[in-house]
Amino acid sequence: MLATQRLVRIAGTGAAIIQRVGWLSELVEERGAEALDLHAQTINPQFVKLLRTIGFDRRWARAEGAHLWDDEGNRYLDVLGGFGMFNVGRNNPRVREALVEALELERPGSVQLGVDALPALLAEELLRRAPASVERVLFTSSGAESVEAALKLGRAATGRSRVLSAEHGFHGLTLGALSANASPEFTERFGPLLPGFERVPWNDLEALERELAREDVALFLVEPVQGKGVNLPADGYLAGAQELCRRFGTLFCVDEVQTGFGRTGRLLALEHWGLEPDLITVAKSLSGGYVPVGALLMSEAVYEGVFDSLPNAVSHGSTFAPNDLAMVAGLATLRELDSRGLVEDSAHLGEQLLERTRPLVERSPVVKDVRGLGLMWAIEFEEPDGGSRTWRMLERIQPALFAQLVVVPLFRDHRILSQVAGHGLNVLKALPPLVVDEDDLDWFVTSLEETVSRAEKMPRALVRFALTAARAGRTPRKRLARA
Ligand SMILES: Cc1ncc(COP(=O)(O)O)c(C=O)c1O
Repeated sequence: MLATQRLVRIAGTGAAIIQRVGWLSELVEERGAEALDLHAQTINPQFVKLLRTIGFDRRWARAEGAHLWDDEGNRYLDVLGGFGMFNVGRNNPRVREALVEALELERPGSVQLGVDALPALLAEELLRRAPASVERVLFTSSGAESVEAALKLGRAATGRSRVLSAEHGFHGLTLGALSANASPEFTERFGPLLPGFERVPWNDLEALERELAREDVALFLVEPVQGKGVNLPADGYLAGAQELCRRFGTLFCVDEVQTGFGRTGRLLALEHWGLEPDLITVAKSLSGGYVPVGALLMSEAVYEGVFDSLPNAVSHGSTFAPNDLAMVAGLATLRELDSRGLVEDSAHLGEQLLERTRPLVERSPVVKDVRGLGLMWAIEFEEPDGGSRTWRMLERIQPALFAQLVVVPLFRDHRILSQVAGHGLNVLKALPPLVVDEDDLDWFVTSLEETVSRAEKMPRALVRFALTAARAGRTPRKRLARA
């Protein structure tokens, strides 16, 4: 063994691995335990206060696949999945291997006034898996940046300025994406937003047609399954929206930032409905969660409408977007999804999850709905029939507080990391890594059943806890409900 390596026991298991020991390992060993205090001092004390209040202030030691370990060796099931960026599992060894190889190759990436094969190879792989309606790729470094690119390029390509999006949609937090978001909790305090942005009700083709018929809309931006709330499209909605966009000269832009790369049981969710958009935004899990990455896939017509001359050859882009590590992680992630059949796994595990959790609607007076597509899953709560004073008191203190009564004990008592699906929504959402297995699903389902049946009785201790959490976490709670 080299002097820079050592044998390290893996927390919570009998196994050991050979670990490189450099200044980084020493730094983490020396100061890792200070994470919460350091974060509070240097980054965001409100967020740390929130974590402490709701009991999420663990010291995280390790992650692998669908699991996290704290510094006491306890294993957690992660169904939050980094807001949906760990489709191929945390610390995927094959993606990591590709990244290490890329670093060791000392490649001449990001020449900027020059090109390298890796971005084009990833673009080729993306296009090979996308509908024929898209033929060019522009890389970005995040979902919001992919959306920004769609907005800018969509305007330039059509010569129109209006942008429509669906109510309850979420497209990111930069100013353009924010202008497309519907919910005031994201937009208030940050105005004025960009002009020309309007929302239409989700699943309402007539409202969409009324707006598009003015023939001044550059693009209609829509998630195939809305992330906030896991709202599924009505039959015919997305195909109908695409048809209307075609008829009125509007670009149809499908935001796959959250639904992409196997999340819904297809590589892209748009495959469920055979859509052929002009623009597709992707990001999040494309890099396996290792490196920021994103892309806008566009039709030839959009490309031609923007990059139409030598002076316009670099009309949009950003310095780091097609960097080597992002490109390599993207290539490795696509290979991993293919070779392990993770998209198919997502489809059938998702069906199992729905089958096992749907009975809760009948069984529990507080469960209104259980829904999902692939491994994008949600459970929605409601006031029990006949009414509940405690429920209404919770709602008065903070709308949708009940969902926290499930998220918190799921974490504290069952070691499952989950999230509320959106601000003001009584919906708990799961976006587990697609590498979860049936034991993990069992862990989740049995813990959920137990937690819901306890929470539906609204025991005093739990309610007191939720109220304290609500008061302490008012503002930063939005962050928990973000993705
Ligand atoms: C559908 C959708 N679009 C865009 C975004 C923004 O992505 P990012 O957080 O990478 O900027 C998100 C993030 O959750 C999303 O779910």
